[in-house]
Amino acid sequence: MSFTDEHARAMEGMAGTRTGQSCPCLFLSFSAGLWPFHVPAKTLSALGMRRKPLRHMDTAQHGHEPVLLHEALELLSAQSGETILDCTTGRGGHALALAQKIGKSGTLVCLDVDPGNLDFARQRLKNAGCNCRFFQANFAHLGDVLDAANIPAVDVILADLGVSTNQMLSDQYGLSFTIDGPLDMRLDPRLEHTAEELVNGLPEKQLADLIFNHAQDRLSRRIARSIVQARQVKKITTTAQLAGIVRSSVPHARFGQIDPATRTFQALRMEVNHEMENLSELLNVAPSRLKPGGRIGIISFHSGEDRVVKQMFRQWASENKCDVLTSKPIVPTEFEMASNPRSRSAKMRVARMRMDQ
Ligand SMILES: C[S@@+](CC[C@H](N)C(=O)[O-])C[C@H]1O[C@@H](n2cnc3c(N)ncnc32)[C@H](O)[C@@H]1O
Repeated sequence: MSFTDEHARAMEGMAGTRTGQSCPCLFLSFSAGLWPFHVPAKTLSALGMRRKPLRHMDTAQHGHEPVLLHEALELLSAQSGETILDCTTGRGGHALALAQKIGKSGTLVCLDVDPGNLDFARQRLKNAGCNCRFFQANFAHLGDVLDAANIPAVDVILADLGVSTNQMLSDQYGLSFTIDGPLDMRLDPRLEHTAEELVNGLPEKQLADLIFNHAQDRLSRRIARSIVQARQVKKITTTAQLAGIVRSSVPHARFGQIDPATRTFQALRMEVNHEMENLSELLNVAPSRLKPGGRIGIISFHSGEDRVVKQMFRQWASENKCDVLTSKPIVPTEFEMASNPRSRSAKMRVARMRMDQ
């Protein structure tokens, strides 16, 4: 896709906001050293926190609780006056905390493919106190967006991959196998193909490969066969229908701890939204768009994504382009997992570009 100034003007919702105010939001408490790191699991069990996860105010108010927030702020160490690119703005949780760090002389560029989330974040960041710019854009096109915004390079890039809680829980996107809705799964409504089209249109082998390659489901062939048999009787149009077909194709003895539909839904979402391709493209372009000393943090939610990030950071390091700041991925504390179960599979890796790259 070519990305012209016209695109930028059309997609940039709000340019150059400078209110000079700082936001009195709750998140300050997370960055003020009050976050309880490494609470022992035993203590948590004693407090009953594993079985009764807390629901944070943040999720209820904003539809999504940012994961690894404190750790991201520490490692990305945004400074006053810097320029930050939030590739996946979502509900603006990370963005707002980063905005506080860069202050009124800093610039925050916010991307998201989902116009609903981007609008929400725009409202939430109204009084963020820095220069905020918003683009409904895919981070795979980050070079084009930055060109259009006239920003040659940034100090920090953050990508918090996947979907936000409000997207997952909405019946509009069709992402959840527990909430009935249309079998859509597009985060970007401009995308051409929905999950419904894949499920009803792909040949059986391609369906099986897709489920296996994206989600390593060893029952992929069996699931694909059931889908093809079911769609010959009736078109599959809802999440409940698909979840039922997948569950009925898996023998009870093979029901594990997770719902058998989990992996099929994950694989379809990844395919519909081109998630692996987008991540690869982001990582291809990012080094040329980070200033010397610039930091990049990627939060991923499944092993395939984490592997790609790990390998790419290693390659940059071997080419003397960067130092990897996380020899092992950063994972949420027991406390965070208990209070926000959706954070459980999160892994963050951070790299810093060399000054002499
Ligand atoms: C996990 S949420 C981010 C939450 C955010 N960090 C917060 O604190 O609210 C992921 C967001 O990235 C968006 N997204 C997913 N893939 C994208 C892509 N390739 N380009 C831009 N945005 C994307 C989704 O629409 C969603 O809003």
